Amino acid sequence: MKLTIIGAGPGGYVAAIKAAQLGAEVTVVEESAVGGTCLNSGCIPTKTIIASTDALRKTKTLSDFGIELASEAIPNLSKIIERKNKVVSNMAKGILALFKNRSIKLVEGKGSIISPTVVRVEKKDGSTEEVHTDKIIVATGSRPAEIPLFPFNGKTILSSTDVLSLSEIPKSLIIIGAGVIGCEFACIFSELGADVTMLEMLPRAVSTEDSEISEALEKELKKKKIKLMTSAKIIDCITFNDSVKITLDNGKEISGERMLVSIGRALNTENLGLENAGIDKGFKGEIKVNHQMETNVPGIYAVGDVVGGMLLAHVASKEGVVAASNACGIPVDMDYSVVPAAIFTSPEIGSVGLREHQALERGISINTGRFQFRGLGKAHAIGEISGFVKIIADAETDEVLGVHIIGPNASDLVHEGALAIKSGLTASELGDMIHAHPTLSEALMEAAEDVHGEAIHALKK
Ligand code: NAI
Repeated sequence: MKLTIIGAGPGGYVAAIKAAQLGAEVTVVEESAVGGTCLNSGCIPTKTIIASTDALRKTKTLSDFGIELASEAIPNLSKIIERKNKVVSNMAKGILALFKNRSIKLVEGKGSIISPTVVRVEKKDGSTEEVHTDKIIVATGSRPAEIPLFPFNGKTILSSTDVLSLSEIPKSLIIIGAGVIGCEFACIFSELGADVTMLEMLPRAVSTEDSEISEALEKELKKKKIKLMTSAKIIDCITFNDSVKITLDNGKEISGERMLVSIGRALNTENLGLENAGIDKGFKGEIKVNHQMETNVPGIYAVGDVVGGMLLAHVASKEGVVAASNACGIPVDMDYSVVPAAIFTSPEIGSVGLREHQALERGISINTGRFQFRGLGKAHAIGEISGFVKIIADAETDEVLGVHIIGPNASDLVHEGALAIKSGLTASELGDMIHAHPTLSEALMEAAEDVHGEAIHALKK
């Protein structure tokens, strides 16, 4: 079976490897670099930069740990970016090696669908190639959405991609949108010494998280002197040679050397020839798929951001595995019931399952338990005591429905919660499991015990 995949991001390249494992003859068409947004301008670059800002932050408390620094630690953004580029290029080489190892053919250029069995590739040199195929997976991802009133100019009004190549730390940075990207960059640039102001149109930051997590993050942002204005409405923006000035509907004016716009993502579903094959799209421009990730056209699948669900690399990869399996004749359904998510602010956020408001909206009666990291010896030992774990359990069955963490290593810790939900564990069962001491994971055990008021290291309520 010949399979052609358009897009080599975490949806497309994972689908390619899975299909090759299952015996398909796979061609991947990619117009830019393999790895997509995740590797080139998203997850990996930002986490690499965060490793630098984490190291910088640690230097500020070194004397608390008994280490004297002879002189002040100074961030060098060019070197930080150079390291980021090296990490990205090594990972890209890894993907290419996996392709070679699995005999996956990579065709560089812009792919579009001519018919359900033909993909045309326009190459950079102007030539075109037609790839004849049995099945197709569309995995073309998304791009930063812009505000029509003041589109990206790459100099003062920046996208999350532009911001990754800045050679100098701006003195002041305005960030529009206090979602995942906005909050991650706010932490990065404030650690680097920029004066950061965030504007969010909704009443709270990271509004898709549990409200207690948003509230805790807002406090942490405040500690870093990041100014967050919620329920903000921008009515005007003027750009100067080396700065930006915005006006809010309440008349307030805010100026900054640079401005990052992180208000969500636009789906790359245009100019792909979807209409040539009669593929249905939804009202947001997303490609409509069924549980097997198949579009309305048999043999054409779509995965990742283009299907418009959760715009997360790990969701795209799982969808890629599901689409590849189905394309290769192995029926599998995509299961979105347990999707852990992580936000790499400092401290980090990890969440899975229902938020409290979602449980209440669904009419589920719940019990909640919390445990502050400051109650743990390990948190004190490493000097990271901010944050807590919150567990939401069904009041009738005691089943764990949601786990929400803000604090050290939250992005890793959340997976214990994910496994608990996936396995249908009760809060009592989670709390009953022996957790190694001294670890940060003990916070999950204690939060689970706290669902029934039984946490050992918490004061009686
Ligand atoms: P987002 O949807 O997380 O946040 C955008 C924010 O901008 C929202 O709070 C929204 O209310 C606000 N907003 C929209 N228009 C506005 C306006 N005109 N003025 C002020 N505020 C406005 O989108 P974001 O942060 O751009 O991230 C895009 C996607 O990438 C998300 O779906 C996210 O899940 C994903 N992502 C995931 C990461 C992770 O898993 N760690 C890291 C970065 C991005």
